[in-house]
Amino acid sequence: MPSSWNPFFLGVLVFGRNKVSKKMYRLSAFLVLFGAHLSGLWILIANSFMQTPAGYEIVGGRAVLTNFFEAAVNHSTFERYFHTIVASWVAGSLLTTGIASWYLLKEKFVEQARILLKVSIVVFIFAGILQLFTGHLHAVQVAKTQPAKLAAFEGMWETQTNAPLSMFGIPDAEKETTHFAIGIPSMLSIMVYYDSNAKIQGLKDFPKDERPPVFIVFTVYHIMIILGTLFVAMAFLSAYLLFKHKLWDYKWFLRLMLFSIPLPHIAIQTGWMAAEIGRQPWAVYGVLKTADAASVVVPAWQVLFTLIMFVIIYTLIFVIFMKLILKIIRKGPEQIKQYSY
Ligand code: HEM
Repeated sequence: MPSSWNPFFLGVLVFGRNKVSKKMYRLSAFLVLFGAHLSGLWILIANSFMQTPAGYEIVGGRAVLTNFFEAAVNHSTFERYFHTIVASWVAGSLLTTGIASWYLLKEKFVEQARILLKVSIVVFIFAGILQLFTGHLHAVQVAKTQPAKLAAFEGMWETQTNAPLSMFGIPDAEKETTHFAIGIPSMLSIMVYYDSNAKIQGLKDFPKDERPPVFIVFTVYHIMIILGTLFVAMAFLSAYLLFKHKLWDYKWFLRLMLFSIPLPHIAIQTGWMAAEIGRQPWAVYGVLKTADAASVVVPAWQVLFTLIMFVIIYTLIFVIFMKLILKIIRKGPEQIKQYSY
C-alpha cells in the first residue's frame, strides 16, 4: 500500500466512524496499522544502513550499492525494527490505558472504559515485557557492531573481562573516568557473550576523535533503561491486578496509568538520542564522518531555516492534533453509539 494512502485511511479512522460502513471502517483500521508498520520498516532500514552499513563498495570515493538485500537487511535492521515497533506498542497501549483510566477516575463512560482498559492493558503487559528482550538483543548487536558506542552507553573506559553493567555514574571525558560509578560486576560480559570472562572494549581503546560524546550518550541511554525497567514493573503490577479482577478498584493505579502517558515518548526520544549521538563522530559508521558529510553546496543558513520551518510546522501539527484528540476524548464513545463493535 503506498504510504500516501495512509492519511486517507487515518482520516476515515478518526472522523469517519459514523460515515462509512463497518467493513470499510475495519479495513481502514487494518490498513493504518499495516501502513504504519511498513513505513516504519523503510525508515529503520535507512537508519540501520547508517549505523551498520553493508552491501556497498567504495568506487572512486563514492558508495555504490552492490547488494540491495544485504544493505536493507544489514546487521542491525532486525533488532532496530523490533525494538522501535515494540516501543510504539508501549506508547500506544499506555495512551489508551491512560484515556480509559481518566474516564474511570471521572466516572464517565464506565462500561466502555473498562473494556478499553482491559484490552489496552493486555497489550501493554505484552509490549512492556517484550521490550526488555528486544532491548537486550539490540544491546548485544551494538556490542558487536559498534563497540565504542556500547562503551559510551556503559561509561566504561578500560577494556576488561568481567565487565560490570553500569547502574549509575557521571562520565568525565576530559579526565577519562566515570565518577561515582556503580555497576553489577561481570553482568555486561555475561549479557553480551553469556560468559563472565568475555572481554569488552573500553573507550580508551579508541582514538579520542572517534569516541562519541560520552556524558550525554550515557545519560540518555540510562534514562531509557530506567523507563524500560519501570514499564516492566508496571506490566507485572497490571498483570497481577488483571488476574485478581481488581483493575479499576484502586484510584492510585488509575492515576499512575494516566500520568504515565508521556513516559514512553521520553523513552523513545532518549533511545533515539542514544543511538544517533552514540554513532558520532560518524554519519555512516566507520565510513563517513559527520564533519565530511556536510554539504558544500547548501549554505548553513538554509539548513537552519529548514530546521526552524520543520519545528514551526511540526509544533503546529502537534497543537492541532492535541486539540482534536482531546475534543474526541472528551466527547467519549457516546458519539459513536450507533454502532456496536
Ligand atoms: C530496559 C530495556 C531497554 C533496553 C535494554 C534498550 C536497549 C536499547 C539499545 C541498546 C539501543 C541503541 C541501539 C543503537 O544504538 O543502535 C536502544 C535504542 C532505542 N530504544 Fe531502547 N532499550 C530499552 C527500553 C526502551 C523503551 C522502554 C523504549 C520506548 C518505549 C525504547 C525505545 C528505543 C528507541 C526508539 C531507540 C532508538 C532506535 C533504535 O536504534 O532502536 N527502549 N535501546
